[in-house]
Amino acid sequence: MLSQRKAIALSLLAMINSGVLALPAAHSFASTVPGQTSLYTSYSGKEAPFPANIKGAILPTAKGKPGPEDVLWQNLLAAEWLVFSFYQQGVEAFNSTSFTSLGYPNTTYERITEIRDNEAGHMNAFYTAISDTSTKPGPCKYDFGFTDPESWLALQVLIEVSSLAFLPGLAEEAIYPSSAAAIAAIAEVESRHNAWALIDIWNVSPFSGPIDTSYPYPEQILALTSRSGPPTLDFDKKAAIGHPGSKVTFKFPDKQPSFESSKEYFTVYFHALANITVPFDPKTRTSTIPAEFNAQRGIIIAVITNEPGAPTKESCVSAPLILLQQPALLTQLV
Ligand SMILES: *[C@@H]1O[C@H](CO)[C@@H](O)[C@H](O)[C@H]1NC(C)=O
Ligand SMILES: *[C@@H]1O[C@H](CO)[C@@H](O)[C@H](O)[C@H]1NC(C)=O
Ligand SMILES: *[C@@H]1O[C@H](CO)[C@@H](O)[C@H](O)[C@H]1NC(C)=O
Repeated sequence: MLSQRKAIALSLLAMINSGVLALPAAHSFASTVPGQTSLYTSYSGKEAPFPANIKGAILPTAKGKPGPEDVLWQNLLAAEWLVFSFYQQGVEAFNSTSFTSLGYPNTTYERITEIRDNEAGHMNAFYTAISDTSTKPGPCKYDFGFTDPESWLALQVLIEVSSLAFLPGLAEEAIYPSSAAAIAAIAEVESRHNAWALIDIWNVSPFSGPIDTSYPYPEQILALTSRSGPPTLDFDKKAAIGHPGSKVTFKFPDKQPSFESSKEYFTVYFHALANITVPFDPKTRTSTIPAEFNAQRGIIIAVITNEPGAPTKESCVSAPLILLQQPALLTQLV
């Protein structure tokens, strides 16, 4: 009995030393460089890993001008708090049986934990990038509305593709090429997270076509989470499938945009690097998703505008709507 306990204690010690059970509180930014710590690859605890155990915003600790890219990193950190929290809530709510009992691969929970760790590593990078003369945003209370492992898995796809849609847009706002490169390197990882789910969970092709959809106004996607941007856009999911070539009826669930009767309006649909403009009638709110776009690949983003091609963010009279196409069965569910 004693020797068995000793063996358990020794193996626990080995796990702590290899970082598997390392407690988050023991870490600092200097001791957790992403790519040089197992905390962001194989930490398996339920407790939030550093720096995601930080509560609240960190106020500036130095006086002076903000760094030239601070707003960019602040946007990224605020978005990452949301993405991280989604995974952390999944890690806390479920265990491996939650997924194996539904027939999903026995690695599902482990992968979710690993993605959670990756997201904490992204937070570390963003915290480190914001200068000490600027505030480092903290977490909000997030209610994702999942009720079971299956609804969590459906939202997982939406959250990953949303980050894939705003990261290229944020890269466009970078001043230094090195910042754009860091954002690209992080987007590559989000894309792997999405590919994992498409293979292991949804049993569809992991590839979204040659180019993922880049949305030029990433702040509008970020604002969706707080509903602080232009009026949110949705479509009648009972009546429409939301795929290329199909008719949709849009709705504005929060507030109606102010349409002027003398003006023309449009729906601009984005897919890959292209956009297609279709006239929009504010009375019927109906539109047809361009049949030109590849079916069942990645996402299509729709936005209502007062100019063809959505040339400026001010031309958007609604928030963007992400129409998830892959897997196709989720378009009407998320
Ligand atoms: C998973 O959680 C359930 C319910 O909370 C519990 O009964 C089960 O023993 C747990 N399984 C594992 C492998 O921890
Ligand atoms: C997990 O599943 C694989 C293949 O489905 C199987 O070979 C393996 O034994 C399983 N592992 C555990 C720990 O159940
Ligand atoms: C939409 O496409 C048109 C035509 O290719 C292009 O001129 C315009 O810049 C695009 N809009 C955005 C916001 O990229």
